[in-house]
Amino acid sequence: MTTRILTGITTTGIPHLGNYAGAIRPAIEASRGQGAESFYFLADYHALIKCGDPLRVQESRLAIAATWLAGGLDAERATFYRQSDIPEIPQLMWLLTCVSAKGLLNRAHAYKASVDVNTEEGNDPDAGVTMGLYSYPVLMAADILMFNANKVPVGRDQIQHVEMARDIAQRFNHLYGAGKEFFALPEAQIEEAVATLPGLDGRKMSKSYDNTIPLFCSEKQLRDLVMRIVTDSKLPGEAKDPDNSHLFTIYKAFASAEQEQQMRSDLMAGLAWGEAKQALFELLNASLEQPRAKYHELMARPDDLEDIMLMGAKKARAIALPFLEELRAAVGLRSFNAQVQVKSTAKKKAKKSSRLVSFRDELGFRFRLLNAEGETLFLSKGFADGKAAGMASKALQEQEVAIEQKGLAFSLMLNGEQIAESEVFADQAALELALEQVTQALAAED
Ligand code: TRP
Repeated sequence: MTTRILTGITTTGIPHLGNYAGAIRPAIEASRGQGAESFYFLADYHALIKCGDPLRVQESRLAIAATWLAGGLDAERATFYRQSDIPEIPQLMWLLTCVSAKGLLNRAHAYKASVDVNTEEGNDPDAGVTMGLYSYPVLMAADILMFNANKVPVGRDQIQHVEMARDIAQRFNHLYGAGKEFFALPEAQIEEAVATLPGLDGRKMSKSYDNTIPLFCSEKQLRDLVMRIVTDSKLPGEAKDPDNSHLFTIYKAFASAEQEQQMRSDLMAGLAWGEAKQALFELLNASLEQPRAKYHELMARPDDLEDIMLMGAKKARAIALPFLEELRAAVGLRSFNAQVQVKSTAKKKAKKSSRLVSFRDELGFRFRLLNAEGETLFLSKGFADGKAAGMASKALQEQEVAIEQKGLAFSLMLNGEQIAESEVFADQAALELALEQVTQALAAED
């Protein structure tokens, strides 16, 4: 079984070295692993919670998209998309909102922190708190549960949110599952081994401390910033302690085992800080040179980036859409037709007088199978022309077709290719009736 890895990056800033070493690089590596299916996305709806500056959100989305691709993410293999391109996510969020206890969300750290500050300052506890901030964990749960993620790599500050997603998933499964587990229960994944990089001043590299090295800054700026890294005042020739040096911590995150060993012994042997900085600059520059060039190339072609993101959205929605249909049906949001079908036809015998009807729409040349009552049993995909559609419908009647059941829907497979699919039925009885009718219809045409 494959493991689904999913993580999102809030699009409010431009990636720095710490984001890269701590999150982006390990995620790209994980996406290459056997048996891993990765879903990485730009959490741009989440960005709106923290940032009301449209220009900044837009710049950040573009830069983060380009960074992941420049860092080597294979967008064909991974599913890489913008949260806001998947309308099913906010729809799912609403279904989840309706089963989430307010008390659970009262305990979320981000919200609680705001309340604490307000209380301390003698303000109304909820001053300045938006519903966006309050519902943040539910949106995040929708991100995760929409794709049934198993592992969610996040920073420590996000563990609570992943746990809330589990709680919400269990609650939904319990209320609506009727024995079926709609949602897999996600687990936060904290990479202990992955470096948390210190910034120029030795505190954690973070925009809020203004101590970052932008990932793809110019070579000159990279050198200038590296030269500003704080060290102790040991003189050239004096032995230095690598394990108490921020410079060495950054060096390690980019060095091979041999390079790391060499630098360790050089420092202990009294290498001057100036020379160590030069070595760090060269190491960083060598590892960033290629992705930096790729990054600037991508940033210069926003149209291509747009296409890549839209392709990712398409892949993601191919999963999200049918799953959301199933969830909607579970909570009672079903087509009226499906309900009528259950009531009025469930007990009738399926008749043989079904018929194939061809038509054309924006997807191309298509056909559908109608039962005796005129209800659609399945709908084909779009074909490039009428002839191809005709051949496919003929093949359905003459060749071995495989009917694949997917939840409360099914699809028709011909030589391994899906050529038609049904809607999501209201319940098992409606599905079985339709399957019986389809089997009879296809046999009857022989
Ligand atoms: N809240 C996360 C952060 O700030 C970003 C995020 C949004 C996320 N949705 C997610 C992470 C889903 C993991 C899974 O870091």
